[in-house]
Amino acid sequence: MLHFKRLVLLSIVVLSALLCFVTTTDQRNSTNAFYYGVLPENFTWGASTAAYQIEGAWNEDGKSENIWDRFCHEGGHIVMNLTGDVTCDSYHKWRDDITTMNEIGLKHYRFSLSWSRIVPDPTTGVVNEAGVNFYLNFITAVKQAGIEPMVTLFHWDLPQILEDNGSWGNETIIKQYQHYADVAFSRFGHLVKYWLTFNEPWVTTWMGYGTGQYAPGTKQPATLPYLYAHTIIKCHATAWRLYDTTYRARFNGMVSITLNTNFYAPKNSSKPEDVEAAERAAQFMVGWFAHPIYVDGDYSQVMKDYVRRNTNSTDGSSRLPTFTDTDKLFIKGTFDYFGLNHYTTSLCEPSDAAHQASVPKGYLGDMEVKLTVDPTWPKSPSGSYIVPWGMRGILNFIRTHYNNTPVIVTENGLSDPNGTLNDQFRIQYLRSYIDELIKAVLIDKCNVIGYTVWTLMDNFEWTSAITKKMGLYYVDFDDPQRRRVAKQSAMWYKRVIADRGFPDPVLIG
Ligand code: BG6
Repeated sequence: MLHFKRLVLLSIVVLSALLCFVTTTDQRNSTNAFYYGVLPENFTWGASTAAYQIEGAWNEDGKSENIWDRFCHEGGHIVMNLTGDVTCDSYHKWRDDITTMNEIGLKHYRFSLSWSRIVPDPTTGVVNEAGVNFYLNFITAVKQAGIEPMVTLFHWDLPQILEDNGSWGNETIIKQYQHYADVAFSRFGHLVKYWLTFNEPWVTTWMGYGTGQYAPGTKQPATLPYLYAHTIIKCHATAWRLYDTTYRARFNGMVSITLNTNFYAPKNSSKPEDVEAAERAAQFMVGWFAHPIYVDGDYSQVMKDYVRRNTNSTDGSSRLPTFTDTDKLFIKGTFDYFGLNHYTTSLCEPSDAAHQASVPKGYLGDMEVKLTVDPTWPKSPSGSYIVPWGMRGILNFIRTHYNNTPVIVTENGLSDPNGTLNDQFRIQYLRSYIDELIKAVLIDKCNVIGYTVWTLMDNFEWTSAITKKMGLYYVDFDDPQRRRVAKQSAMWYKRVIADRGFPDPVLIG
C-alpha cells in the first residue's frame, strides 16, 4: 500500500513537472487537467460586495446623493428602471451579513465605503458622524467575528456634487479624495489591514465617461477616459502616500488599488503579430493603471505610441495626458500588493480596417486590437465566457510584468439566471478558476496571497439590477426582511476554505 502511494506521489510530481513545462508556454493546454493542491495557512479567502450594491438607505442619516443614485432615479438606464434605494438593505441588516460570513468561515470580507455617507459635501469637507459610526460599528463587529475587513474607498459612487463640479477633470478632487481617505484611515485604520483606493478605475472612466453605459452616463470615448484616469491615478498615489507617511507605522496595513482585467491571449500564438496584439491589449487595459503604479510612474511606451498616432494631430500632441517627472516619482511604487478582479478572457489579433471602422474613435480604436472569443467556450447565463485557464494566464502576466508583486484576487465569480439555491454551475466555475489559481501558485510560483468571490449575496448588479444573481447567498428582494439563504456554492466554498484548496484524495486517503 505504501509503495502504491509512493508510486502515485511520484507520478504526480512527474505529471506536475510536465504540466509546468506545457503551461508556462501556453496556459490553454492545461484547460482540462484538474490539479490537486493546498495553499499555505496564511493564504486569505474572502467574499466581496460594494456599498451601492448592498447598502440601500440611499438618503438616510445625512448621506448625500451620489452619481448612481442620480443615474438610477433618472430612469432609462437600468433594467425595469430599478434602483439601489433599498437593495439588500445592509445598512440595517449588516448583522445578517456577518452571520453569512461566519457560516462560510471567511478569512476576509471585502466591501466599500460610501464617500457620500462619510463626507456628504466634499467641497466643505464636513464629516457626517452618523456615517462614520455606521462603518465603525460594522467594521468592529466584522473584526470581532475574526474576519479581516478589506475596505475599498471608492467603488464607483462619486458624490453627485463632485460630478457637478467638474468631476475627475477638476483637479481639486485630488485634495477632496485625500481628505476622505484621511477620514477613513484615521477613524478605521486601527481595525483595517487591507485597503483599496479604487475599484476598477477602468470601469469608472471607460464605462462612466467613454461608453456612458454606467453612471454618470457621459459619452466622450476619445478624451474623458484618459483625462479622468490621469486624475484617478494621482488620487490613488496621494492616498497611498498619505497612509505611508502618516498611518503605516501605527497601523501596519496594506494599501493598493483593484484593477479589472481579462486575460489577453493571442488568437494564434504562433503568429508574432497576434502575440504583440495581446500584449498591447493588456497594456491598454490593466497596464493603463498598473504600468504607472507598479513599473515606472508613467504609461507604457506602447500605449503612449498608439494613442499619439491615433490622435493624428499636426503638432504631434496626444489625447493621452503626460505625467511630469515629479508626478512619475510620486506615483511609482505606490502599492503594497496587487488587487485583481478577473472574470474572463479575450483573443487578440491586430485590428483591420473594417474593425477600426466599427469601434468609436478613441480608447478602443487607439489600441488597434481586434478582440474576439472562441465560440466553443461555455457561457454564463448572462453571456460572459468561462475560460478558467485565463486565471492562470493573468496571474502569470502579473508575475512577469509587475515583478511578482503579491496578488490578492479581489473578485471572481459567475451569475445565474434566477438565484437558484442548487447552483452547481457556479460551483463548477469557482472550482475550475480556483484550481487554475492553485496551479499558478504551486507550479508557476505566482505570488498570490488571497482570493475573493464576487459576491457574498445577490445584490444590485448595476444596470442589470437584481435580475442578475451572482451571490453565494440568495436574497429574497420581495421580502421586507431581505432574508439571506445559503446557496450550495456557499457551503462548497466553506469546505474549500477549511481545506485551503483541493487536497489530493489519494494522499489524504
Ligand atoms: C465588477 C465590479 O466589475 O464585477 C462589481 O467590481 C460587479 O461591482 C461585478 O458587480 C460583476 O460585474 P458584471 O459586469 O458581470 O455585472
